[in-house]
Amino acid sequence: MANEIQTIGVLTSGGDAPGMNAAIRAVVRQAIVQGKKVKGIKRGYAGLLQEEIVEMRASDVSDTIQRGGTILQTARCKEFTTLEGQQLGAEICRKHGIDGVIVIGGDGSFKGAQKLAALGINTVGVPGTIDLDIACTEYTIGFDTAVNTAMEAIDKVRDTSTSHERCSIIEVMGRGAGYIALWCGIANGAEDILLPEKYDYDEQALVNNIIANRKKGKKHHIIINAEGIGHSASMAKRIESATGVETRATILGHMQRGGSPTCKDRVYASTMGAYAVDLLCQGKSNRVVGYRNGEYVDFDIDEALAMQKQISEYQFKICKNLSL
Ligand code: ADP
Ligand code: F6P
Repeated sequence: MANEIQTIGVLTSGGDAPGMNAAIRAVVRQAIVQGKKVKGIKRGYAGLLQEEIVEMRASDVSDTIQRGGTILQTARCKEFTTLEGQQLGAEICRKHGIDGVIVIGGDGSFKGAQKLAALGINTVGVPGTIDLDIACTEYTIGFDTAVNTAMEAIDKVRDTSTSHERCSIIEVMGRGAGYIALWCGIANGAEDILLPEKYDYDEQALVNNIIANRKKGKKHHIIINAEGIGHSASMAKRIESATGVETRATILGHMQRGGSPTCKDRVYASTMGAYAVDLLCQGKSNRVVGYRNGEYVDFDIDEALAMQKQISEYQFKICKNLSL
């Protein structure tokens, strides 16, 4: 077939996520098994525009499945949001014989893949973000590791919070998405969770809840605050002066993005990476891989980007009920 894909490029873009290496490994090895060449594009679209492109053999991804971060590095690249940048990117792909590109990242990265596809380079997106905020898929690579890292850290803060009978505000990642905060809220038994999608900035309600819980004899009060709301330190000061309960803020930060991926992340990343290669080999382009209703699926990127995702009302409600 004249138009058959010969060489697949792979890049990671946007925030890194544990499991990205497992996805890269799967792309490289599944492509080699299918008789394709693979080229690693370093530092996302920034590296593409700088022609930081290296050939990848099966051995180049040895000993990587268990490693956090991304061996290809990642970056954010403003230039690639311009038509000139995208045209240059497509030209560089052609120059290096890359006729298909697998983009591991979030929604922003998929917009880049959509633009490359429109310029004649076949593309497939693989959802890699700790935020779980990609609407077309129930799972994104990195979420399980990140949420377990956060959960373990919050357990530790809870121990000391209980000993000192304090209130603790613990800030987790998620600038626009509250999934890590919601899951930790349930898993850590938090008294309050503040999600960008839900929080009404009614601090008096938090104060009332802390006072009511103290009267009930609760020895700690855990508030999980998503990064998108932020301001945990100043919130702690205001809450302490309004309640008289000693309050401390802990910002977990980027530790949530690192670490060895969990089994779940390795398996989803491996499957999604291989699936992306299969799509390119079938001549598909402008697709994004997802996981829905127990199956690996794919969507047109334009449709995927138009989808909306909502925080589960039920989980939000029971999180509160269960910390009674
Ligand atoms: P994520 O992929 O995690 O959502 P970003 O939103 O930071 O992360 O996007 C990653 C990169 O994708 C950006 O730095 C940019 O290079 C590229 N990108 C984002 N939006 C667009 C766009 N509208 N067109 C082309 N490329 C884009
Ligand atoms: O990867 C997603 C994420 O961790 C968001 O939760 C967060 O808002 C953002 O990345 C922060 O990214 P950085 O600090 O790398 O700019």
